[in-house]
Amino acid sequence: MIILFIGDVFGAAGRDALFHGLYNIKKREGADICIANGENAASNGRGLSGRDARDIMESGVDVITMGNHVWSCREFEEFADRLPVVRPANIGRNRPGKGYVVTDVNGVKLGIANVEGRAFMDIVGDDVFGTADDLVAAMKAEGAAVTFFDFHAEATSEKKMFAMYLDGRATAVVGTHTHVQTADETVLPGGTAFITDAGMTGISRESVIGMAYKGVFEKFAMGRKASFEAVKAGTLEIRGVVIDADEKTGKARSIKRIAEIVEPPV
Ligand SMILES: [Fe+2]
Ligand SMILES: [Fe+2]
Repeated sequence: MIILFIGDVFGAAGRDALFHGLYNIKKREGADICIANGENAASNGRGLSGRDARDIMESGVDVITMGNHVWSCREFEEFADRLPVVRPANIGRNRPGKGYVVTDVNGVKLGIANVEGRAFMDIVGDDVFGTADDLVAAMKAEGAAVTFFDFHAEATSEKKMFAMYLDGRATAVVGTHTHVQTADETVLPGGTAFITDAGMTGISRESVIGMAYKGVFEKFAMGRKASFEAVKAGTLEIRGVVIDADEKTGKARSIKRIAEIVEPPV
């Protein structure tokens, strides 16, 4: 099973990048399923509206994962139970939405889960270890032969630790949230594919991880309450990873980075 995962889709630019570039990547890589992190897909870079979710799915994404911005768009709670959207299982436990889904991919069941890290996060979730154990058990009980975790966290150490905790029990642990793609993709000794961060999709080059320089400068230089604005014009980029999963063993054969510029037709 070839799993294509797209890192944090940021703002309208991120959705545009997918609209113009995702089809070709899916075809070239032979993706059987496409998962994207959509926690920043709203036009202001915070959260996911119903329209953003529809846009992303129309571009070819099958399942959307989330992160700390999960509750930023109020309407998320209205469609979270209806659409193929997965939100961190360990934050807002009693709120709407689900922490995992099990979906059929060409006759093989794939479990997709989302967990948020605890170090340096503004919303600190529940125990990641107990949550991970419960998610593995729940997905296996529903027949998942392959399991994918989006671990949404700030600290590189917490991401690696989480992947090692699940090594041999999950097919892949992919880090999100920091928006900068790391060069450490590997298959761990137990067979779990891992990368610290898949990177972001949208305008990266002309922004500070998606936001305009000015607002971020004012926050760091003057402590001024942030008036962040998503960058709307610049180079469109898609970042993510492709994982080749062995359906018989549930282990990963390989993980490869995707990092490319999308040229929209003029
Ligand atoms: Fe993000
Ligand atoms: Fe995030």
